[in-house]
Amino acid sequence: MAIKKGLFKSSVGRKNLMAITGLFIIFFLVIHLIGNLILVIPESFFPIEFWGGVENVHDMYNAYSHFLVSFWPVTIVAWVLYAAILIHAIDALLITLQNNKSRGEKYQVTDTSTSTWYSRNMGILGTIIGIFIIIHMAQFWLKYKVLGTEHDLYDLVFATFKIWWIVLIYEIGILALGFHLVHGIVSAHQSLGIYPKKIMNIIKYIALCFSLVMAILYAIIPIILYFK
Ligand code: HEM
Repeated sequence: MAIKKGLFKSSVGRKNLMAITGLFIIFFLVIHLIGNLILVIPESFFPIEFWGGVENVHDMYNAYSHFLVSFWPVTIVAWVLYAAILIHAIDALLITLQNNKSRGEKYQVTDTSTSTWYSRNMGILGTIIGIFIIIHMAQFWLKYKVLGTEHDLYDLVFATFKIWWIVLIYEIGILALGFHLVHGIVSAHQSLGIYPKKIMNIIKYIALCFSLVMAILYAIIPIILYFK
């Protein structure tokens, strides 16, 4: 028990917890992206024969969102996700405080020539993403899942992205997410020590490509809906 307590109190334990929660959040982000890409499927490509009763993108998106709230295993995964986001944010704060404290005690210099600006500003990027998630959940999750004041999620999302400054907020949030992901994925693999150091360069390349694709696909959704 003492070992377990120590594991997550130590800096290594905290970094492992950040890595595990971060990788779980990434898993959610991939599923969330696939679900929301339904919004931008051109009506002409819509496979009506395949989907039977569902006749258009509007119905398909609402059927997908209804499934999310009515299928209980998804509800359990959603609660694990909320916990993971909170733990990830609190842990990040504790690691930052701990680092600042030890920086005050010992001398520690950050070498800016060997690190990227986004790896040195993960806290700021994380804060921007945190603010974005609060705004985002207040717009959709709260109204649809919690208060139940909105029943047609497609109409709600569509109307939301008709406002240019909301689209802008999304683009800023997604840009921050992209940079946060690049460093986060590499850092998580380093913390967990899953792969030998030799292939870390490959991991860095994969992280960069993955983050780029995720950011581009997320970013096009509000823009396409704005002009649709
Ligand atoms: C730009 C494209 C996006 C669209 C159209 C979108 C849409 C939605 C909608 C409609 C919901 C409420 C229904 C549901 O739970 O699925 C939702 C929930 C959520 N979104 Fe997004 N989202 C987008 C991007 C993002 C991004 C970039 C993040 C994270 C940084 C994010 C994080 C979340 C979270 C944490 C929830 C609550 C999840 C749940 O309760 O299951 N979303 N989103």
